[in-house]
Amino acid sequence: MNYLCTKCGRRTPVSDRSPKCACGGLWELEFTPPAFSLDAIDKNEWSIFRYRRFMALADDSWREVSLGEGMTPVIPLDENVLLKMDYFMPTLSYKDRGAAVLMSHCRSLGVDRVVQDSSGNAGNSVAAYAGRAGIACEIFVPEGTSPKKIAMIRAHGAKCTVVPGSRDHCAQVCREKVEREGIFYASHVYSPFFYEGTKTYLYEVYEQLGRIPRHLVIPVGNGTLFLGVIKALAHLKASGLLSSMPQIIAVQSEACDPLLRGAAAGLDAPAPVTPGPTMAEGIAIGEPMRGTQILALAKGYGVRFVHAPEDKILAAREALARKGVYCEHTTAANYAAYLHYCECFGPAEDCLITMCGAGLKSDH
Ligand SMILES: Cc1ncc(COP(=O)(O)O)c(C=O)c1O
Ligand SMILES: [Zn+2]
Repeated sequence: MNYLCTKCGRRTPVSDRSPKCACGGLWELEFTPPAFSLDAIDKNEWSIFRYRRFMALADDSWREVSLGEGMTPVIPLDENVLLKMDYFMPTLSYKDRGAAVLMSHCRSLGVDRVVQDSSGNAGNSVAAYAGRAGIACEIFVPEGTSPKKIAMIRAHGAKCTVVPGSRDHCAQVCREKVEREGIFYASHVYSPFFYEGTKTYLYEVYEQLGRIPRHLVIPVGNGTLFLGVIKALAHLKASGLLSSMPQIIAVQSEACDPLLRGAAAGLDAPAPVTPGPTMAEGIAIGEPMRGTQILALAKGYGVRFVHAPEDKILAAREALARKGVYCEHTTAANYAAYLHYCECFGPAEDCLITMCGAGLKSDH
């Protein structure tokens, strides 16, 4: 299997360990899955790897790496809203979908050391799966990251380095280390293998409901869930299983919204922003590396970007918790954004919202 550069189109085998193409472009996978069909799901495998016929996997390394991630329930919240309980995961966030595939790839290459930068949840996931795969790991997190996320990274045996400054600066420090020392960059943003995992979010919904709901609320910082969901939607469509595309409602923080602004201004690239403080720390990405790709797809699929109003996040968290759903603040932001969307565009019937990070992870 090959990587394909998103900028210059160069091909290189996926055994190539460089984080990106020499021209600076990020990798895509040159991989077209076979037509999706419920019959091709391995119903005896109780993890995301039940969809492995549609995933770009070189071998069976995943068998030693999987922690049983995925298979999360869909439950009704009210007559319009379904919640996908994606914090029912080994490390309590949806990032396990991507980390399970990325670390399986590392294991199949024989990688013995990885680094990564994260606002916390992806770092938790990569640290856990690196521990499981026997791979040494260092995670860079920005100052202000929840102490619980840091404790969890360290508990998995990874080194956790807290970097003063913004999330974007933290990524820069980590990437400099990758360049200087040639360590494998297990990035949920750079590696296209991560998206092979996040695709399963939508495959699961389709298997569970036998359809795709009319509205999908997806948080977007770097867009790892967004890109996986779009890939999977395109796949289901190409397989003749979707008569129409759902309305994707893409959530950005009011304090950090380069994609929302970019889309509103009709730009090809994210708008320059200075990130402010927000409770939705998980989506506060000022410079999303795949921003151009996200904006192009958003245009093609008629995605609507919407803010999570900062002053509504706590109330949204409380409302969910009162109904038994204890999610983290970044995830409560998805519900706050849904309510805001209904105010702006009218009722969003048949709407699926992801509950993708657990409440125990965030302090406020
Ligand atoms: C709970 C939660 N929701 C949403 C996101 C946003 O993910 P992405 O930056 O890949 O768009 C994150 C990322 O860390 C997260 O932890
Ligand atoms: Zn290139």
